[in-house]
Amino acid sequence: MAERYVAAVDQGTNSSRCILFDRRGRLVSVAQREHRQLFPRPGWVEHDAEEIWRNVTRVVPAAVRQIGAEPSQIVAIGITNQRETSLLWDRATGRPIGNAVVWQDTRTDRLVTELAGDEGPDRFQDLCGLPLTTYFSAPRLRWMLDHTPGLRQRAERGEVLFGTMETWLIWNFTGGANGGLHVTDVTNASRTMLMNIETLEWDDQLLEAFDVPRAVLPEIRPSSGVFATATEVLPGVRIGAALGDQQAALFGQTCFSAGEAKCTYGTGSFLLLHTGQEIVRSKHGMLTTVAYQIGDEPASYALEGSMAVTGSLVQWFRDGLGLIHTAAEIETLARTVEDNGGAYIVPAFSGLFAPHWRSEARGVIAGLTGYITKGHLARAVLEATGFQTLEVVDAMNADSGIALTALKVDGGMTANNLLMQFLADLLDVRVVRPMVTETVSLGAAYAAGLAVGYWPDLEGLRSNWHRAGQWLPHMDPARRETEYANWKAAVQRTFNWIR
Ligand code: G3P
Repeated sequence: MAERYVAAVDQGTNSSRCILFDRRGRLVSVAQREHRQLFPRPGWVEHDAEEIWRNVTRVVPAAVRQIGAEPSQIVAIGITNQRETSLLWDRATGRPIGNAVVWQDTRTDRLVTELAGDEGPDRFQDLCGLPLTTYFSAPRLRWMLDHTPGLRQRAERGEVLFGTMETWLIWNFTGGANGGLHVTDVTNASRTMLMNIETLEWDDQLLEAFDVPRAVLPEIRPSSGVFATATEVLPGVRIGAALGDQQAALFGQTCFSAGEAKCTYGTGSFLLLHTGQEIVRSKHGMLTTVAYQIGDEPASYALEGSMAVTGSLVQWFRDGLGLIHTAAEIETLARTVEDNGGAYIVPAFSGLFAPHWRSEARGVIAGLTGYITKGHLARAVLEATGFQTLEVVDAMNADSGIALTALKVDGGMTANNLLMQFLADLLDVRVVRPMVTETVSLGAAYAAGLAVGYWPDLEGLRSNWHRAGQWLPHMDPARRETEYANWKAAVQRTFNWIR
């Protein structure tokens, strides 16, 4: 009998990919297409949702063709996505109403300050687990409804649909304007600020506070479970999962028990700690979020430390400053010097995320002297990711009361050995990289494969996890302390910019 595969569709911030996995969790095929990043004004970031769907319709068949497989060999589709990026579209025509507004976009900074009012950014934390910042979907959705004349009335009449990217893809996979299914999953819904973190339903109080009509919202479903059968692209194949990309990575790293954590290093970086079925409310700037829900089982939760700009700082170094030609060159350039020479870069391009949550923050390069070369700056770029991780780990340890002893890492930046060693040194823990670093896609595949019985249970998935790399800490504690103190001083300089 022909081999069968699960197809993961990862609709990320920079590209859409389709990866096929076999029963042992091995990556057998990849196809990828980047989409444009649109920056219409400073602080604004948009995507063209039609371009994204077009890319998905190309990468899925390309991944299947690449290994000479037939669509009938695909047992399920698992969808995973950049979270919080928000879109409205017309139910009757299927056409987007404007561009998707991306999670990095800060256009709602005044609105979130206004909404926070006297109660402050934690006004809704009890209800949804999240602080009021520009990062989440609800302020964005409110902004979109406010800024197109007549749109709110149309939304109230049910003529307009809202979705994050998995909702947009599932709707299109199931026919779009011709009867598409309008659904989301608990992990993505948990990033909107509109879902009650306990009931896992849209919350009336939150809908009222953000002035969002219920009629625009999709139905919330478990992350792993059959959503529908696709009618487009891979007709007849079941969509077995949808989950936000960071939650998918937690799943792909097989962090299924409380206390297990991973950090994914991509455009941004996201450290998630599984907290079991317990909802832990952070006092140190972490987010409470849904980790996943498998069918009718109770949901699992996580604490998350989100860093907005990590890999995208390397991209900026390459494209914005032109100091390197390829992202991989940064390691070579950084190795031309012994250390950062006293320079620190705090990349507050979208304000600062965890644990600060300061939307008004803007980036700085601090500690400049005539001694600094582009090699030192390359080091400072990489180290920014290390320092941001340390801030998150400190906060996470304070919230959970347990110090992390090892960190499972994944994502594109983990190919950078200099950064991985710096991370181990700075965090003073073992840093471990698995064989399959495409854990976002692997997690989506696992969740979809479980839903259709391709994999029997979580234990079976655990046995697919194999360690490929490990870094041990060597840094002198005194140096670690000085470095961290300098970083913190640089962070202070990002605050209180006048807009
Ligand atoms: O919350 C944003 C996150 O989901 C984006 O991930 O990998 O597409 O940059 P990525």
